[in-house]
Amino acid sequence: MFLDDDGADMLSHVIVSTYELKEWMVLKDRFGSCVRYIIPPIPDSGLPDLNDEGFLRGANALTRDILDNENVMKYVNDEDCGIILLENPPFAETTNIEFQKRNEGKNASSWKQGFVVEKMKKEVKGVASNEMGNAFIWSAFKYFLRQPTDSYIVFLPVKYWKAQHLIVMYNFCERIMAKAVIHVGKRKHTYQINYTMGFYVCRLYFRGINTDDPELEIAKYILPVRPGRADRRKTIIKKGAVCFSYRVA
Ligand SMILES: C[S@@+](CC[C@H](N)C(=O)[O-])C[C@H]1O[C@@H](n2cnc3c(N)ncnc32)[C@H](O)[C@@H]1O
Repeated sequence: MFLDDDGADMLSHVIVSTYELKEWMVLKDRFGSCVRYIIPPIPDSGLPDLNDEGFLRGANALTRDILDNENVMKYVNDEDCGIILLENPPFAETTNIEFQKRNEGKNASSWKQGFVVEKMKKEVKGVASNEMGNAFIWSAFKYFLRQPTDSYIVFLPVKYWKAQHLIVMYNFCERIMAKAVIHVGKRKHTYQINYTMGFYVCRLYFRGINTDDPELEIAKYILPVRPGRADRRKTIIKKGAVCFSYRVA
């Protein structure tokens, strides 16, 4: 059971969802019995139905599937119910060069024909609708977040925020450095990232001057953590007066 700070059961208020069968099986085994509802629901026997594309029927967040689901919408339509959306949406930057080179453009872009993107395109102009994460975010605000007490927690990789120009340099560097893993083997001191070099590496990466993996690059620059050495004030040694009589002795 997952308890909040007051000892109340949290999962019994949660609706979980995925449209991928394998993920659904994990979700069902781990949380199926303790959440309020799972999308798609657990059938009486066998596995849930798949659609023509091989995904779970009734669970595609970019179609009308969720909007037509009464078990979800009864909470959305209840203004006494607070909503917290927690989402780690897929990221598909279909305009990037690597993606185009793999010639996957057409197949992988079928999501753009879905209900959500069609509606989004009427309200959002420009390249924003090329990014799948944006469609999830737009849909969250459009259909599920209704009042100031609702919240939305969204996880997306750094390259998403970068592509959307939604990140300031400090946040960008901080996120990358937080993920850099340093390997020190058997050494005497504990080690930390050399933050000066870290910021430098991140800036080069951001500006496209160095395209190597910044996390690996940063991990090369480490410094030992030596507690107690941070510019401590030197102890003043008191010196006694020297008597002039030694000169004549
Ligand atoms: C980045 S993964 C996140 C997985 C998991 N929620 C987590 O946080 O580790 C994105 C998830 O979105 C699901 N997904 C992708 N497109 C979807 C769609 N159109 N409707 C519903 N789920 C979708 C994928 O199956 C995948 O589970």
